[in-house]
Amino acid sequence: MTSPFPQLDANGRLRHLITLDGLDPGLMRELLERAKDYLCPPGRLPPRGDDLRGWTVANLFAEPSTRTRASFELAALRLGADAVNLDVMLSSRAKGESIIDTIYTLEAMQVDVFVIRDAQPGIIEFVARHVGDHVSVISGGEAHLSHPTQGLLDALTIQQHKGGFSDLTVTFVGDIRHSRVARSAHRALTALGVAELRLVAPEEMMPEPHEFQGARRHSSFDDGIAGADVVMMLRIQRERIAEAMPTDIDRYHELYGLTAARLARAKPQAIVMHPGPMNRGVEITSEVADGPQSVIRRQVANGVAIRMAVLAHVAEARRRRAP
Ligand code: NCD
Repeated sequence: MTSPFPQLDANGRLRHLITLDGLDPGLMRELLERAKDYLCPPGRLPPRGDDLRGWTVANLFAEPSTRTRASFELAALRLGADAVNLDVMLSSRAKGESIIDTIYTLEAMQVDVFVIRDAQPGIIEFVARHVGDHVSVISGGEAHLSHPTQGLLDALTIQQHKGGFSDLTVTFVGDIRHSRVARSAHRALTALGVAELRLVAPEEMMPEPHEFQGARRHSSFDDGIAGADVVMMLRIQRERIAEAMPTDIDRYHELYGLTAARLARAKPQAIVMHPGPMNRGVEITSEVADGPQSVIRRQVANGVAIRMAVLAHVAEARRRRAP
């Protein structure tokens, strides 16, 4: 008999954050609300807290990352924790040490939270099942499958700009098949009640038919963007494409690149999102990326606030279990 999925504790709070799949929308809304306490107008000193005073957060990233890793580190520091970053590809794992030995080694140094990014499906849950009782594991991105804090920060960004979710049409464009960002955003937005989700991609970048339930699929960008409130652009995930990459990048840009002319087909107040890193001139032009409808930098700022909210929630949940 396998034990239940380890994400929630007996109080229904997050002990780990592995996926948004099946997560209670009430809990998602609570995390979005909590993140608002940590938002910071540009030029002001960022809010700080001491929810994680005395804790140690270890970032174990086995895939490249700029935004996610830096924002988890800043989130931990701003809540009073110590933070340590390990490039696990360069660490002893590459010398044949199993990930669990790496975890046990760091646990012996009194790490309280592991933030893990890895290309291997299932590894984050596996680690969560092996850590000590007081230790939490948070996903920083798992294979093509999930990126829960990104899904939450995308939801927060949409909520800030659109006031809510229920009347919105949200269009995902690009390499959806290989995108953990799209999968987690789909989970979050479906749970939060977005009215319509659309997928725009060439055939080879569309997810399997059983995935993204309820979303409408379009091969034509012009059809998929018409009247949209939110347009979320995605990079071609070259590192996850085993088969041949589209060689004709100009053609890809013509069909699936977001230009100002194409954006004019969306609603006038539509917002443009991108998780980064962007390939300017491929999936998005600089004019749009840096234009008035772009909220891409806001997404980055929200990333720190969401990660602070998740860490503070996990710390509070631990105090409730063992006051
Ligand atoms: C994404 C990721 O790593 O999944 N980036 C991010 O976390 N901000 C998307 C990508 O790599 O294209």
